[in-house]
Amino acid sequence: MTTRIIGTGSAVPNQIVTNDDLSKIVETSDEWIRTRTGIRERRIASAQSGTTALAIEAARKALENAHVAPEELDIIILGTSSADCCFPSGACEVQGAIGAVNAVAFDLSAACSGFVFALNTVHSFIKAGIYKTGLVIGADTLSKLIDWTDRSTCVLFGDAAGAAVVRAEEQGIIHLEMGADGSRGNVLECGGRTTGNFLTGQKPELGYMSMEGQEVFKFAVKTVPETINRLLEESQTSKDDIKYFILHQANYRICESISKRMKISMDRIPTNLENYGNTSGASIPLLLDEMNRAGMLSRGDKLVMAGFGGGLTWGATLIEW
Ligand code: COA
Repeated sequence: MTTRIIGTGSAVPNQIVTNDDLSKIVETSDEWIRTRTGIRERRIASAQSGTTALAIEAARKALENAHVAPEELDIIILGTSSADCCFPSGACEVQGAIGAVNAVAFDLSAACSGFVFALNTVHSFIKAGIYKTGLVIGADTLSKLIDWTDRSTCVLFGDAAGAAVVRAEEQGIIHLEMGADGSRGNVLECGGRTTGNFLTGQKPELGYMSMEGQEVFKFAVKTVPETINRLLEESQTSKDDIKYFILHQANYRICESISKRMKISMDRIPTNLENYGNTSGASIPLLLDEMNRAGMLSRGDKLVMAGFGGGLTWGATLIEW
């Protein structure tokens, strides 16, 4: 028994922010952003809406796509690093909103690897025979954690949610890989939320995201190919048998560099980051949902999904669609 994805859904905010829009608030240009990252525009959540609202919309669409009723769900995991509040978790808010009365629900924090980690975690419960039907969500509104005066980070990210309904079946996840390196966490970090102090009377303040861009770039182009190669080797799968490599959508140049290193043509590495930027935990399920709804996936296709990001964390999953 393994875990099969039987439906997908996604949600993005209505507000489009183009590179030209950003050039009005920081010293940057459409040309710089496009040539360094491939991003043209991103979606930004309104002040009234956040990660939970997007996650709920993506979850509803995934359930509809899978023809699964909320009551059938046994488990909901939301991969996010920008939950609207510390508690209740975003996953519990989704569970309440959709009426998944029989599901346990919790968030998982692995930054941009969040969806892959959440999928692999739900799979472990299914493989162990504990649960049958799950909802895996990746959702982030990093726009709310960005310093909008810092041009080195604010041009990169966007808000979105993506979801997949999974079920215990014979065909589905074939193999998985996950890793973490906490000793290098400082290259991509976001200041603490627990900064209040009883003795000094200090109130909690939200910290902003900071990043050493080139270090993160080097980490991604080295670790992702290594992880995918290990995944393929351990599952005795040839890379030629993989129809698509669905990589975390951080930067077009990262995808290109992985394509060169792995000798995989870019037509097998689909991208949509030009429209959404880096949507963190949402990027892989958002792309997967677009591909699913565009009819690009057929039963039996082998796909690799690979995420990487803050922590540092990385993970990959080989599935049969
Ligand atoms: N617009 C214009 N100039 C900018 C800029 C912006 N938005 N951001 C940085 N610059 C400037 C820098 O200040 C620097 O100027 P200097 O040479 O005068 O010092 C110059 O552009 C080059 O900066 P650098 O950081 O060396 O650029 P880069 O080629 O490494 O590209 C990134 C920067 C962030 C696009 C790239 O490092 C990257 O994509 N890293 C990975 C980031 C990522 O994906 N993070 C999330 C992972 S989950």
